[in-house]
Amino acid sequence: MRKLIAGNWKMNGVLADLPQLDTLAKAHGDASVDVVICGPATLLGRMGTKGLTIGGQDCHPIRSGAHTGDISAPMIADTGARYVITGHSERRTDHGENDTLVAAKTVAGWDAGLHVILCIGETEAQYRNGETLTVLHTQMDHSIPDAATAETTTIAYEPIWAIGTGLTPTPDEIAMVHADLRAHLTARFGASGTGMRLLYGGSVKASNADDIFALPNVDGALVGGASLKAADFSPIITALEQSV
Ligand code: PGA
Repeated sequence: MRKLIAGNWKMNGVLADLPQLDTLAKAHGDASVDVVICGPATLLGRMGTKGLTIGGQDCHPIRSGAHTGDISAPMIADTGARYVITGHSERRTDHGENDTLVAAKTVAGWDAGLHVILCIGETEAQYRNGETLTVLHTQMDHSIPDAATAETTTIAYEPIWAIGTGLTPTPDEIAMVHADLRAHLTARFGASGTGMRLLYGGSVKASNADDIFALPNVDGALVGGASLKAADFSPIITALEQSV
């Protein structure tokens, strides 16, 4: 399995930011790990000319139709993008997306030929109440479609309380959760579940990347804030390459 580092630009990025990708492509164009930038829909076409793999951040569950403002998976694929994120906690919270919708969006991504990075994660209250694994199991059982394979799907574990806060679980906690997620995936999907990439996301930075990437069952990361500038993202990519 090739490890994966994905940057999630969220609602950031205008034309003036595109040179960041030139810098990244120069430094990591032939990286030994998969490097993906999930940009805003407005920039995907232009980002695709920069020599890096590009992804969308969300897609509509159906191919086309009267849905003002929405963007379908075939439209994302048409820009040259090869990945799409589904189920990000900000979509679940800001737009009320539930597991059923996330599963439908995931299938739409596959149907358009996109590799899906499907996100799961617990709230701070659920973490404090010791409900993390129960919550993650429910999200996995209901948002990962039965047809998921290691080739089409990557799972990203992102504790909601760690996103954009500078807080992270301890390395032991991340290792424990990822071991549990791996067992859960293997029980459901067999060898494909064992081979499915499991990313960690939430306040990954150059300063904690080495420790996180050294953990078993951590096959890369989904990086938000620290992916916006090449100077911040590049050392994280290098850390993943060095962990292989
Ligand atoms: P962060 O975001 O790295 O800024 O915490 C991660 C994410 O939401 O994917």
